[in-house]
Amino acid sequence: MANNKPIGVFDSGLGGLSVVKELKSILPYENIVYFGDTGRVPYGTKSKSTIVRYAVEDEKFLLSKDVKMVIAACGTVSSVASHTGKKLPVPFVDVVLPTAKAAVLATENKKIGILGTSATIKSQSFEKAIKKIDKNISTYSVACPLFVQLVESGWFHRNDEVAVAAAKRYLEPIVQAGVDTIILGCTHFPILSDVISDVVGSSVTLINSGKCAANAAAELLNEKDMLSSNKKGKTIFYVSDKPDSFSKTASYLLGDDIGANVKLTKANDFGVK
Ligand code: DGL
Repeated sequence: MANNKPIGVFDSGLGGLSVVKELKSILPYENIVYFGDTGRVPYGTKSKSTIVRYAVEDEKFLLSKDVKMVIAACGTVSSVASHTGKKLPVPFVDVVLPTAKAAVLATENKKIGILGTSATIKSQSFEKAIKKIDKNISTYSVACPLFVQLVESGWFHRNDEVAVAAAKRYLEPIVQAGVDTIILGCTHFPILSDVISDVVGSSVTLINSGKCAANAAAELLNEKDMLSSNKKGKTIFYVSDKPDSFSKTASYLLGDDIGANVKLTKANDFGVK
């Protein structure tokens, strides 16, 4: 039976748009409620207990919007707090397993690089998922926390000299290791794909965690017969701070003027007293 409720998607800020962009392309008839926790970004430098608390509050906020599914469009939450999503009364998708599967399929030389936030890399979530699928794959991980700030500041364009310098510094060890596949394990990082690809070379396959999570969500909705029968989908965006700046960058990234659809949440909407 069709289910016309919205899909709930959350991240600390702009990164989850990597999921939204793909959802809008593969499931154009779905309504989406997005929550970007711009008042508390970044998540990836915080402790596990703080990230778990934020995840619970974000999920609670989306459930209050009567969503039919929750997507943790955040590598950090997916890595350290996915147990909170698995307890929800609606289907839950995170980025780790779908992205690990795509990377294992893509690699030919069995050397995979993993980029993520500090919390994600510390958790070894992607390594563990990869080794479960194929224990003969070698992984090389690098935490790239500055990438999150670059994206949130709008410094993600191909020729941005600060972004290029940061990418060269972060990526050197995995280029040296000879990986043929790199997991962009933070959903902010696909927004820097051009910069990253210029540094590692076009022969290296970049795996977009946002895209992988969106595809997994579509498959699950289809499997559960929960796709919508709407004629056209609409996306509403909620943020916890600075809606104007979110709206400007998000409109650019989605190629669509979303200005009128970005709302500021009241703090207690997502559990902060
Ligand atoms: N986009 C998120 C991730 O995938 C969060 C980045 C952050 O807030 O540090 O990890």
